[in-house]
Amino acid sequence: MNILHIDTSAKKPEQSNSRMLGKLFLQQLNNQGITPDIDYLDLTKDIQPHLTAEFVKATYTNEQDRTDEMKATLKHSDAMCKRVMNAQMIVCGLPMYNWTIPATFKTFLDTIIRTGITYDLLPDGTTKGKLTDKHVIFITTRGADLRSGAFQHMDAMTPVLKACCNFLGITNAYFVDAQPLQFTNQQEREQALIRAKQELTALADSLSKLY
Ligand SMILES: Cc1cc2nc3c(=O)[nH]c(=O)nc-3n(C[C@H](O)[C@H](O)[C@H](O)COP(=O)(O)O)c2cc1C
Repeated sequence: MNILHIDTSAKKPEQSNSRMLGKLFLQQLNNQGITPDIDYLDLTKDIQPHLTAEFVKATYTNEQDRTDEMKATLKHSDAMCKRVMNAQMIVCGLPMYNWTIPATFKTFLDTIIRTGITYDLLPDGTTKGKLTDKHVIFITTRGADLRSGAFQHMDAMTPVLKACCNFLGITNAYFVDAQPLQFTNQQEREQALIRAKQELTALADSLSKLY
């Protein structure tokens, strides 16, 4: 089984909760007898390029009509899409930054949302996502507690992830949200981590039965 494991926390790795929780989830899978091949992608080191005019032109040109220059422009994205399509499971560690996903993850999404590879454009103009067979686990960390209260309406992270899942045909998406981890007292932080670890353990337990 192949897992694409993505980290995005800009903190030093040993100080990052999302990185720690991602590792813990993989360890829990191991404990359940799953020994996957891990394709690791650290988006703070392997930063994806922003969209360019050349990329947009190339990606919307039919494959058979692409020039060598267009093919070269898409080469990196092609390779990244291949990594996504090769994975049965995708584990994403995502801290909330300014109420939404890290910008590095947005450029990753821009890199891998590709007509004809990760989704199909159908003759009637509708689209069909091609990631239907994948389990995608979003491990999010937040400084504040957005489950209720004053900040609840500020969550611009979950909606964008759900929209992308919907577009890409990901029906098996799981969210483990560790919060509050910063703007609160020590006891609440600890409780938030305990909750997240319990959820990840239960998720590893149930998903391991499918592999
Ligand atoms: C630049 C920056 C922006 C942040 N913005 C938010 C935010 O909008 N809402 C929030 O709840 N937490 C915010 N946080 C707090 C982080 O989401 C929180 O500390 C999280 O646990 C970091 O995950 P990590 O330990 O994996 O790096 C922000 C942190 C940083 C560094």
